[in-house]
Amino acid sequence: MAELYIFASMKEMDIHIRVGVKQEPELTDAERLLVSEARRATYRSYSPYSHFSVGAAVELEDGTVVTGSNQENAAYPSGLCAERTAVFYANSRYPELAIRSICIVARGVDGDFCTRPITPCGACRQVLLEAELRAGHPIKIMLCSTQSIYFVSSVKDLLPLSFDDSFLALDV
Ligand code: THU
Repeated sequence: MAELYIFASMKEMDIHIRVGVKQEPELTDAERLLVSEARRATYRSYSPYSHFSVGAAVELEDGTVVTGSNQENAAYPSGLCAERTAVFYANSRYPELAIRSICIVARGVDGDFCTRPITPCGACRQVLLEAELRAGHPIKIMLCSTQSIYFVSSVKDLLPLSFDDSFLALDV
């Protein structure tokens, strides 16, 4: 109720994002390859603490696919998510190649692939945003579950009102 009161006294703006949904048989060959590489990457996850195995497959502009998985640590914050592992690996191995798309998959504590599309954490979204700005074009994001695959056509959609390097140039 308090929120309603505050918003009633000012203009509002809505921010919408569009999410595409496909079933596995509808995927293109390139998309299917990315899903299968991301699934394979979950088996290379090092997640003895959460037992949540995440895999990410990144497609570069020349079609090269690189993968990453979450890498945990006894000092929990020292670990890294699958998405950032994959993006940082792609950028350090192929700095000249822009990222075209990323696919994310996870297996839960029971070892089975998740029935709900897995979505990147906030820090990974920020890193993906930097990759998108560096690429100079939108990065396609595929979020997988056993039921369906969500498609988001730009990282900007996943991170509205985001912070980027344009703020650093502001003369304020
Ligand atoms: N994790 C990822 O690798 N990606 C995500 O999108 C969400 C979470 C990892 C971090 C940690 O190793 C485990 O999943 C549980 O949070």
